[in-house]
Amino acid sequence: GKRIMITAGPTYEKIDPVRFIGNYSSGKMGFALAEECARRGAEVTLIAGPVNVQCTMNNVQRVDVESCQQMYDAAVHAFPQMDAAILCAAVADFRPAEVADQKIKRVGKTMDIHLVPNPDIAAELGRMKREGQTLVGFALETNDEQQNAQHKLEKKNLDFIVLNSLRNEGTCFKSDENQISIISRKAKKDYDKKAKADVARDIIDELVKNLS
Ligand code: C5P
Repeated sequence: GKRIMITAGPTYEKIDPVRFIGNYSSGKMGFALAEECARRGAEVTLIAGPVNVQCTMNNVQRVDVESCQQMYDAAVHAFPQMDAAILCAAVADFRPAEVADQKIKRVGKTMDIHLVPNPDIAAELGRMKREGQTLVGFALETNDEQQNAQHKLEKKNLDFIVLNSLRNEGTCFKSDENQISIISRKAKKDYDKKAKADVARDIIDELVKNLS
C-alpha cells in the first residue's frame, strides 16, 4: 500500500535533431526495484529515461522521459504524494547550452559544445522531503567510493545511499548482476555480487526498515 517513486535509466541531452549526450545505463536496476516494490504490494511510479526494458506489473505506472529536465519535472511533480523515492537514474550532470534545430555539419578540424549544468533531482527532492518520507540515492564511483558516497548522502539529504563501484567487474551498466554496499548515517553494509533482482530485494528490505 505504500507509494514509491523510482527513477531509472540514463538521460539523453540533445545536441541536434540526431545526436545526444548520454551514458551506458540500461535501466535494469531501476526496473528490478520497481518490480520488487510492486511484488510486495506498493503503488509504483517509475520515471524512466530512454531504455530497452519492459515492465509488465500492473501496479507500476511508467512515465517515459528523455532529458534530465523532463525527469526533474516528473519527479518534482510526483514526489509530494510518495512515501519514498529511489533515485536510480544515471542523470547527465550537464547539457548543451543550445540545441541546434538542424543537423550540425562537419566544418573545421575541431568542434566545441558548450555545456551548462542540469538540475540535481536528488538534491531538490532532499530539500522537498517532509517528515515520514524516505529518500534513497545511488552512487556509482570509480575511486574514494565510501567517502564520496557519504558526502552525497549528506549533501542531498538522503536516508541511505546504494554504492556500486566500477572496480567490481561484471557489475553496473548493462550487466544482469550488481555488487553493492548500503551506506546510511549510522552504518555501512557490504553485500555479495548477485543478480539485480536479488540486489533489489536487499535494497527494498532496507527501505522497509525506514518506512513508518
Ligand atoms: O552526484 P551524483 O550524480 O553521483 O549522485 C548520484 C545520485 O544522485 C543518484 O541517486 C542519481 O540518480 C541522483 N542524481 C539526480 N539528478 C542529477 C544527478 C544525480 O537525481 N542531476
